[in-house]
Amino acid sequence: MNNITLTRPIFPDQVTQLQSQCTLTMGEKVAAYSEAEIIDLLKNASGAITTLREPITAAVLDACPQLKVVSNIAVGYNNIDVTACTSRGIVVTNTPDVLTQTTADFAWALLMAAARRLPEAERYLRDGQWQHWSLNQLVGKDVHGATLGIIGMGRIGGAIAARATGFGMNVIYHNRRPSTDAGAAQLCSMDDLLKQADFVVLVVPYNADTHHLINAQRIAQMKPDAVLVNIARGGVVDDAALIAAMKQDHLHSAGLDVFEGEPALNPGFLSLPNVVLTPHIASSSETTRRAMAQLAINNCLAVLAGKPALNRVN
Ligand code: GLV
Repeated sequence: MNNITLTRPIFPDQVTQLQSQCTLTMGEKVAAYSEAEIIDLLKNASGAITTLREPITAAVLDACPQLKVVSNIAVGYNNIDVTACTSRGIVVTNTPDVLTQTTADFAWALLMAAARRLPEAERYLRDGQWQHWSLNQLVGKDVHGATLGIIGMGRIGGAIAARATGFGMNVIYHNRRPSTDAGAAQLCSMDDLLKQADFVVLVVPYNADTHHLINAQRIAQMKPDAVLVNIARGGVVDDAALIAAMKQDHLHSAGLDVFEGEPALNPGFLSLPNVVLTPHIASSSETTRRAMAQLAINNCLAVLAGKPALNRVN
């Protein structure tokens, strides 16, 4: 039987299923692993089923010579040195498609919550502040009829755009090239998108090109009452620059699911009532998280059985 390491617990029945098909090592730690701990977990494994929290570096690969496949339970794989895997003949896989609709739903949840000040309104009630109805209470920003700008037009971007039809929105997008996922959305330059969009949603992968893609200069280009939503990755937005701009009352609000250096949070966010903060849960419905884990298992087992991976990225 193949040795497989699962770096973090998944659903118990899926663990049982894996145990019937391989010799399983399972990481139990909740906190981050050091590089030495990752090596210790993977040193005898031919297959690794990892989460986006584990950095799979060249040093890890060098210390784990049996590895044939790294199967990430995520659509993003910026935690893995893919070039180093490729040069060692190690297959890297991810979990696209199964999370597209759930993640698009969540982008909308953040967008609506930020536009209509839902967390602020709830805090107001819970704090016992609601004494009277009044016309100007917690007034928000209309979503219907507004311009939605999507940066990164892949499958998730397309699913977010499709949902905008019911809100009668004008949808524009920026992508390296025209996308077949865009539907009726119009391709435009980054500058035009930032100038025109009432809602800017980020759905790009994180890499050297997208690090601080949304920096102080680009935030300044946005409409002063625009809403920024980030469901991509921490690091795509310069968090300190966003906080500085919002402290100067630039932007209506923001909805953020991902952060630089997460799970640590820049404390500046906590003093901004118009920022909706969630802990990287855009794909977190039970159905979707189960489907992601299952796809990662299937990818890992396929490669170890000498079959093509279902979702190979290298
Ligand atoms: C989650 O962020 C993912 O990449 O699947």
